[in-house]
Amino acid sequence: MVNLTINGKAFTFRKGETVLEVCQREGIYVPTLCYQKDLKPYGGCRLCIVEVEGMPRPTTSCTLPGEDGMVIKTDTPLLKELRKFTLRLILSEHPYSCLICNKKEECTSYMQCIEKESITFGCKYCTKNGNCELQKLVDEFEIKEIPFTFRYRGLEVERYDPFFERDYNLCILCGRCIRTCEEVRGATVIDFRHRGPETLVGTAFGLPHIDAECQFCGACIDACPTGAMGERYSKYTGKPEKKVESFCTLCSIGCSINLNIKDGRIVNVQPNNSQLCVRGRFGIAPFVHHQRRTAIPLLKKDNRIVEVDWEEVLNFATSKFNEHKGKSGVIFSPNLSIEAIDAISTFTEIIGAECVAPSFALSNLSGLSNPITLTTFDKPSAFIILNTDLIDDFSVLLLKIGRLSKTTSVLIAIDPIETKITKRVNLWLRPRPQKEEELLWLLFKKETRSNETGVSKKEIDCAKKLISGREVYLLYNPLNTKKLRLPRYLKAMPLLNQINFLKVAGLNIIPCSEILNDENIDCLYIIGDAPRLARAYKTVIVQDHFLPDFDFDTFLPAATFVETDGSFINMEGKTIKLPKAIEPIGKSKPDEWIIKELTSRLDFDMVNQKKIRRSTERMIESKARPTKKYPYYLIVRENCYRFRNKPLSTLMRGFKRLRNDDCLWVNIGDAKKLKLEEGMEVMVIAEDFNYKMCAKITDEVPEGLLFSYRNPAIGLMKDEYVKLEKER
Ligand code: SF4
Ligand code: SF4
Ligand code: SF4
Ligand code: SF4
Ligand code: FES
Repeated sequence: MVNLTINGKAFTFRKGETVLEVCQREGIYVPTLCYQKDLKPYGGCRLCIVEVEGMPRPTTSCTLPGEDGMVIKTDTPLLKELRKFTLRLILSEHPYSCLICNKKEECTSYMQCIEKESITFGCKYCTKNGNCELQKLVDEFEIKEIPFTFRYRGLEVERYDPFFERDYNLCILCGRCIRTCEEVRGATVIDFRHRGPETLVGTAFGLPHIDAECQFCGACIDACPTGAMGERYSKYTGKPEKKVESFCTLCSIGCSINLNIKDGRIVNVQPNNSQLCVRGRFGIAPFVHHQRRTAIPLLKKDNRIVEVDWEEVLNFATSKFNEHKGKSGVIFSPNLSIEAIDAISTFTEIIGAECVAPSFALSNLSGLSNPITLTTFDKPSAFIILNTDLIDDFSVLLLKIGRLSKTTSVLIAIDPIETKITKRVNLWLRPRPQKEEELLWLLFKKETRSNETGVSKKEIDCAKKLISGREVYLLYNPLNTKKLRLPRYLKAMPLLNQINFLKVAGLNIIPCSEILNDENIDCLYIIGDAPRLARAYKTVIVQDHFLPDFDFDTFLPAATFVETDGSFINMEGKTIKLPKAIEPIGKSKPDEWIIKELTSRLDFDMVNQKKIRRSTERMIESKARPTKKYPYYLIVRENCYRFRNKPLSTLMRGFKRLRNDDCLWVNIGDAKKLKLEEGMEVMVIAEDFNYKMCAKITDEVPEGLLFSYRNPAIGLMKDEYVKLEKER
């Protein structure tokens, strides 16, 4: 520790600390615009200038490292004048009419409607009004006139991309978005383009963000001090009234979030000292308040679905469980809260339901007994990423790994398909499908004698060198691979989007298919899930946020996770508690409440539980070989852009543009042979399945392989040999 003097007072500082950091730590106010904590200093806006004894002119404190004996002044008339001059220069290229207007207080009543103007001419037209750093500084420096000629840049507002819009006429070139994208997200999607007065922020070649590998994480929007970057969903909602700290449950990471609330609605979601992915940042508010959300109890009467009250649906549902004693099956989603899952366990025990099952097999989860906490990644580590695109599906985990393990980690991808992560890792091993487990074992064997993986000995030796002397972790989505027998040196970290999968994996469960195929089941109770019903049942009871695609007898509208208190276990095995942030929408009720109400109305003596059957199903296994009839191998992967098994793409256009569930990836060579073109409809035919899909021609899958996402609603569940027929 050494000393410096600021405004006549002595302070100690640590080596490497800048003068601005010392000031902020000690509560000495210095105005800033381009500075942001955790980003490298940029020194672009010059608002943070300070006077330093012995230096000929004021200098930017955000780039000035502290030195022993330095004497600094942060608040002199000269500095104030220079800062005002800088602000006026910035404003000469920024719509400033409202900022300096002497009637600005009086026109508040028109604000809500003029905000909806498509072009921002001033603060009253701007969605950032009242929450803008530039506006605050103008007020602070009491700027009343701009002595420079105003130059409106006349740039077109960029509206092409999903989720957000950009109006670079409001951009002050602080570079915070660019540095956030690069330094925090590791994405380098945007940079300064052009030079001098033409400088603007943009992607390489001015591509839309969606074509520039943008993750749509929204970190750049949160970094922007002005209204240049705006979120489309909350554009016209105005300033939130309150903020509730919570967690995202759209995947098992469970990121900390702030729910911004106005008029009992979630306006938008922002990170709470964390980073988010597109699902948490842009998916929650439109999901909760979706216009197709059904929040009224429904009952089928005379073959018509009609609105009824809770009493009637609860009595109806209970009467059906009483009627179908011992012949009921319960299917539920691992996205439910712990309290709801516990209530389901009690309920099924009482009704003697055959079993409780989520809509996918959890039988192939490994490493569950001992979940890995992320803090263990502080040693030199090697991460083997198996059949999972970490950038698309678990980008936040990738950031955490990067931050915790710094430069000591290596990343190896094992995947037959090229994905975003295979382009970013230290080494990509591309085995034949179904040979991933064999390849994993070869990485830990001294000799590589028989090797049918399709990966060369040279590549395997290279991988061995990379992992040698490191803790080796396997990151994988168990639904994207067959059940794995793992080498004991390998610590497995299963990645699933169903947040409570650790809770569910600890229960006696069997896969959904065993309930659906059980001829003895007459009554199905489906909670927050959407399996494909291949046959008719006497009674189907659905409890969810949205109506299912299949026929049902009664619908019990469930409140979402923001409308109720609840606990969840994240992928590290930590319990997170979510508060009720808003009142349940319409007449919806918490899952736990509904299940307990049903339980309390049951007229059952305890029925002896039948012995739980153990599943023999393997999700991703095909013993078949290619034949002349079925020459292509279709790889099917879990679509993590789902919540309670509802594909986000079916609810929000933005997600449909990011991930189209109906897309079939076909190799360029195969497409040529089949005379298939991009976007053409093609029939995918297997022995027990045929479905129309949209061709995406790509070299990301090798010849002979096809790729698509699992889709329980159409029965597309596992890898298969298939043939393709062009739609006429
Ligand atoms: S970005 Fe800020 S200063 Fe500019 S118009 Fe919007 S609210 Fe006003
Ligand atoms: S949304 Fe994320 S990835 Fe895309 S430009 Fe902004 S910070 Fe970069
Ligand atoms: S868009 Fe916003 S964050 Fe990016 S440079 Fe412009 S003002 Fe700064
Ligand atoms: S990483 Fe998971 S928990 Fe975090 S924001 Fe995305 S979906 Fe939500
Ligand atoms: S905050 Fe230091 S130059 Fe902008």
